[in-house]
Amino acid sequence: MGHSISWMNIVVLSLLADTFVLANPEKGFYHGYEIFFSNYQAISLSTLQQWRTSENVTLVHINYVLDNFVTSNISSTVLSKLTVDFQTLRSADMKAIVRFSYTLTEGNMNDAALTQLLKHIDQLKPYLQVKMRPLANSDVIATVQAGFIGTWGEWYYSNNYATPMSGGAWYEPTATQQTSRNTILNALMKAVPTSRMVQLRTPTYKQKFCGTANLSPSQAFNSSNMCARIGVHNDCFMASSQDQGTFESDAQRTWLTNEGRYVIVGGESCESNSLTGCTGGLDQINKQRFSYLNVEYHPTVISGWKTAGCYNQIANLMGYRFELINGTFPSSVTRGQAYCATVSIKNTGVAPIYNPRPVQVILRNKVNLALTTFAQTADPRSWSPGLLVSVGLSFTVPSAQAVGSYDVILNLPDASSLISSNPNYRILFANANGVQETSTRFNILGQVTVQ
Ligand SMILES: *[C@@H]1O[C@H](CO)[C@@H](O)[C@H](O)[C@H]1NC(C)=O
Ligand SMILES: *[C@@H]1O[C@H](CO)[C@@H](O)[C@H](O)[C@H]1NC(C)=O
Ligand SMILES: *[C@@H]1O[C@H](CO)[C@@H](O)[C@H](O)[C@H]1NC(C)=O
Ligand SMILES: *[C@@H]1O[C@H](CO)[C@@H](O)[C@H](O)[C@H]1NC(C)=O
Repeated sequence: MGHSISWMNIVVLSLLADTFVLANPEKGFYHGYEIFFSNYQAISLSTLQQWRTSENVTLVHINYVLDNFVTSNISSTVLSKLTVDFQTLRSADMKAIVRFSYTLTEGNMNDAALTQLLKHIDQLKPYLQVKMRPLANSDVIATVQAGFIGTWGEWYYSNNYATPMSGGAWYEPTATQQTSRNTILNALMKAVPTSRMVQLRTPTYKQKFCGTANLSPSQAFNSSNMCARIGVHNDCFMASSQDQGTFESDAQRTWLTNEGRYVIVGGESCESNSLTGCTGGLDQINKQRFSYLNVEYHPTVISGWKTAGCYNQIANLMGYRFELINGTFPSSVTRGQAYCATVSIKNTGVAPIYNPRPVQVILRNKVNLALTTFAQTADPRSWSPGLLVSVGLSFTVPSAQAVGSYDVILNLPDASSLISSNPNYRILFANANGVQETSTRFNILGQVTVQ
């Protein structure tokens, strides 16, 4: 292929500073909705649009509360409202972190008995899937929190799946209740498409299901391996006493730092204390590999970060953050022959991409702006946090390609054909000097002449 290249460009790129929040899909600060099935208030397009445009927020947490269906099936009227909500997300170019539960009231532990709960999962399944259009919505579901069990769906205070110990000092599942929990998790993992992960509330809950060993690199992102699809959500991020019981030991903190290389972690803070300032926040976002965090709670923590000036930095650090470091590109290529380039990409975020996503190179004709797209084999989920990866980009230029000058574009669109052509679902690299094309959210690698 060397003979098709007249000479090589080596380009060194510069990085973007944290002067603003870089909006990117499936990561960052989120806003939240609590939707009670007894009084269904649909999510609002204008509110979502406002969050997106004024704060560059791309994620919403939706806590669906089956409060009036604890002992019966969900009504078809309510189910049809879910479809409307997901369409609203699509219209707003947003994605949701979804959770179902029966109660958000402290002291109310009223969850559904196993048989009914499994029916609820069965009823909800078509809405979570990839293929069962028009019901399927996995395209705009970033991740699913396991939910269902107990108050807030947090698997702790529960009538059916935990037992008060020591006169109610703490709650634990009996062996039978643990078996029921496993049955529920298995059912949920099957209801959620294999392209999506499910998050459990604590490391212990995952370890009870998958064992204490971390996933190995060879197991990571294998959609047939349930444990490769189970992440963690920590809803007492940085609270005192091991994030208010989220961790049982420092060993579990180390476990999460390792596990978070391959599965999604995120959550919300629940108290402000001496360790929840910028230094502690940056440290823990990093160590716990958070991809998302509630921007509404705890308000003192978030406003503290805004006042101290680290809010943008934390927003950009969360999840993946791709930087093009440099690259070697041919400056011209002959029709019918191969184009080969190499780019060095660094993930300077704290986590991987957790959902599958294609990588494409696009040639854009500089005169008529026609796009020619070439699928690449790279899997961007392997661009692990902290790693500098060398990514080969190659394709054969069609013999019918018009000669002339082209932009060479790196495109990371959504994997779903429903939204893959929507620029707001594309990943923009954290580079300055002309890499970002904000109107298309294409990453411009350079130019090439087709001859
Ligand atoms: C949102 O992103 C745009 C660039 O697309 C930027 O100009 C703006 O400052 C960002 N807003 C915030 C709140 O960071
Ligand atoms: C409740 O939902 C389940 C799961 O979809 C279904 O099999 C069952 O027939 C429903 N029961 C009633 C009474 O509608
Ligand atoms: C993916 O996981 C399944 C189930 O554990 C296993 O059978 C299969 O060999 C794994 N695939 C790869 C490529 O490792
Ligand atoms: C690209 O950057 C990496 C990391 O700094 C460096 O190791 C490599 O030599 C650079 N390549 C070129 C072609 O400059």
